Amino acid sequence: MKIIKGRLIQAPKLGEILAYPNGGILLDEDGAILKVYETVPREAPCEVVDYGDRLIMQSFADMHLHGPQYPMLGMGMDLPLIEWLKTYAFKTESRFSDPEYARGVYRKLAHKLIANGTTRIAMFGSLHVDATLILMEELEKAGLTGYVGKVNMDRNNEPYLTETTEESERETLRWLDGCGRFRYIRPILTPRFTPSCTNGLMAFLGKLSAERRLPVQSHLSENENEMAWVHELHPDTTHYYQSYQKYGLWKKRALMAHCVHSDETERKAMKDAGVYLVHCADSNVNLASGVCPVRTFLNEGVNVVLGSDIAGGALLPMSQNIQETIKISKIHSIATKGKDAFLSVNEAYYLATTAAALYFEGGAGFEEGKKLHAIVVDDGSFCPATRPLSLQERFERAIYMMGESNIVAVYSEGRKVL
Ligand code: GUN
Ligand code: FE
Repeated sequence: MKIIKGRLIQAPKLGEILAYPNGGILLDEDGAILKVYETVPREAPCEVVDYGDRLIMQSFADMHLHGPQYPMLGMGMDLPLIEWLKTYAFKTESRFSDPEYARGVYRKLAHKLIANGTTRIAMFGSLHVDATLILMEELEKAGLTGYVGKVNMDRNNEPYLTETTEESERETLRWLDGCGRFRYIRPILTPRFTPSCTNGLMAFLGKLSAERRLPVQSHLSENENEMAWVHELHPDTTHYYQSYQKYGLWKKRALMAHCVHSDETERKAMKDAGVYLVHCADSNVNLASGVCPVRTFLNEGVNVVLGSDIAGGALLPMSQNIQETIKISKIHSIATKGKDAFLSVNEAYYLATTAAALYFEGGAGFEEGKKLHAIVVDDGSFCPATRPLSLQERFERAIYMMGESNIVAVYSEGRKVL
């Protein structure tokens, strides 16, 4: 047992920050939380790891990113989605047919995620099974927790990055066979998006998801041209989501990235099915996809989490994606003349932490019985303010200003990984 002690900050509920200036967390041998102290007792019952004046906060979750797009971070921001995929993304992903190349990139990515305080992920690999297993291995070694998917894509692709239906099915099974050795990184079925997958492949994946109780992630209603294309491919549907629903891929805990243009009917279908919106604020603007009305989703009871969408998004640190989420919500609020209230720092932080932790059956804030996911932030290098700051103020400043150098320790699933 040990206690970690410091300025404790947690977001157990949407909009609510609990801040304990002399707080601490009692952990068992496996890093599970036994008790949260508002004030650590003077006579502690065990070893105390004292982080002094530093902030102990919940670590972040990135619930949508593309591992094999990491090498093109910050490139190609001048094109809309479909053209961007063909000009940049598919070419970059095709390099991951080379396992050695994949190893180098994925090792770097895994360490950058931890260094920036991201401990939970839901990530797309590429269609390559060997590279995707390497990605899972590198994430697990670096200390991350979560889901990774081998991407399925058997139509409307470029010749250098595609698979036949038969290959896609066979390779998915081979990939799943290889996943048994991982403890913290688990498989998630990943049809790239409806235009990339034949009906036969979608039906195969839907059946597999049901048989093996595997979760699903994909893209939904990101871009208006994409949506028109889905309608051409599935003329029997009125809404994009129905192209997943037809094949058993619209189900509880499915992660759908973007949903920028999902209307009331589609949002209700999300709520009714227990499908999650993964909001990717930076990507939605970079690719000029549109502004997602996150407040409306929240008001209507849809579960919302955040994603960087690397490399449609160009920001790996989730602290920066939180800022982007807030700013885009303010633009939306301004454009709707205040009809939709913008997201507060507290709310956006909750979406990047507890909302995703609950998806993985983790805790709401630092919850007893759950494994610790936390970062320790040293804000001592920020310019001193003109007066003493409250812990809430220090928290807000940390979200806007923290960089890798400020994150001095990271705990993931109870283990100290930095
Ligand atoms: N839709 C299908 N593939 C992709 C991708 O790689 N990135 C984004 N943002 N949208 C997609
Ligand atoms: Fe994406």
